[in-house]
Amino acid sequence: MIDKIERPKTPEDWLALEFDIAQLFSTGPVDEERLFAGRTSQVRLLLETVFDRSKHAILFGERGVGKSSLANIFWRRYGKTLQSFVIGRVQTDPSDDFTSLWTKALEELLAFAKMTGRAELVPIEVEFDRVSPDTIRRELQKCNPNSIPIIIIDEFDKLYDEDAKELTANLIKSLSDYNVTATIILVGVAENVSDLVKGHESIRRPLVQVKLDRMSNEELNEILNLRLKLTPLKLDGDARWKIVTLARGLPFYVHMLGKYSFQNAARERRLTVKDGDVDAAMDRFISETEQSFQDDYVTATASNQTDAKFQEVLLACALAQSDDAGFFSPTSVIPPLKMIRKRPVTHANFQRHLTEFVSEDRGRVLIRRGQDRQFRYRFRDPMMQPYIIIKGIRDEMVDESTRNALSYPEAPLLPLSDPTSNDE
Ligand SMILES: Nc1ncnc2c1ncn2[C@@H]1O[C@H](COP(=O)(O)OP(=O)(O)OP(=O)(O)O)[C@@H](O)[C@H]1O
Ligand SMILES: [Mg+2]
Repeated sequence: MIDKIERPKTPEDWLALEFDIAQLFSTGPVDEERLFAGRTSQVRLLLETVFDRSKHAILFGERGVGKSSLANIFWRRYGKTLQSFVIGRVQTDPSDDFTSLWTKALEELLAFAKMTGRAELVPIEVEFDRVSPDTIRRELQKCNPNSIPIIIIDEFDKLYDEDAKELTANLIKSLSDYNVTATIILVGVAENVSDLVKGHESIRRPLVQVKLDRMSNEELNEILNLRLKLTPLKLDGDARWKIVTLARGLPFYVHMLGKYSFQNAARERRLTVKDGDVDAAMDRFISETEQSFQDDYVTATASNQTDAKFQEVLLACALAQSDDAGFFSPTSVIPPLKMIRKRPVTHANFQRHLTEFVSEDRGRVLIRRGQDRQFRYRFRDPMMQPYIIIKGIRDEMVDESTRNALSYPEAPLLPLSDPTSNDE
């Protein structure tokens, strides 16, 4: 946990500030309650589920929207004492079967209880050669009635063993039928519940669906504000607007651009983070992530010399107005493409490109949903989208005025004033 950072005086202080910034903007899931922004309704829904004995939850959404963070934090938002919560959090491994997954879950539950001095609440066995849903249910029934055990199965989409999925569905159904206090929360990347529990429709009734969309600009701003409050730094309106706009609703990018731009200011011994610091952050991001995104980008946009339009259309897709789940219509590609090409554009100019982006040849950079003539598109890997925009800006495919006319998901934002009152 990081204390409020004082105004730096010595060169060592400035260096320490850079490290503190890195901690505040860590790219892993949030595990400190005061650094967690927004998501109020989802927190409430999960808490309601926990206090309803017959209910369990499935938390799903696009990659990187903040599922693990929400699962880490929501129970700490319970207003009263946290004394009786016991949390077992496991990461699914592709090699897991039912026994390995659920014995891990019991072990984690017990470890948490011991670590927090609550072992007497969870008098369970954890050593088994093989377990069935009934074994797990019986162990969970041993938990003290005053305890609130929660088992979080993260990355459930990585569970490939079909038997394990079916047995997990049976377990949830049985916990619900027996009114066991323990709550199971399945977490995974998916567009809808069926993706995660395909073929196990019987657990739909006890499962509360918690869908996590991209964050609103307000929530992204809150991520910045919560961290600014702990530093002596100030953030210029332009810089703030740029970070939030580029992130396209993905908290990961607010963390990354926030970290790099705040660090750039600290490196130059300034307490105000400016527009130019975000530019420096974009450069650093492109050079540090080149490897992870570049191959996919090249596959998606490669072309022979007669048609170099793929990069432009893909950038326009990344800039297109989309809904909360990241889907955009072909029509919404027109305004950004017009600005990139600086001439009128019709559907016919880019229809072929969209169709190709969905294909295997272009690495399925986009996925398509809906009926003919009403197709909607989304980036298969949402993380690619801000990368493409940042790269487009660095490669000068869009100019400043173009960028300023675009924002996600609603109308362009005016630069926000800095709500913190730190003086430089
Ligand atoms: N509510 C939030 N407040 C502040 N930061 C957040 C919040 N939610 C997510 N983040 C940040 O966003 C990034 C992605 O979050 P997280 O790992 O929780 O997403 P995820 O949906 O579990 O991703 P994946 O699909 O890759 O497992 C992390 O850097 C995390 O710190
Ligand atoms: Mg996660």
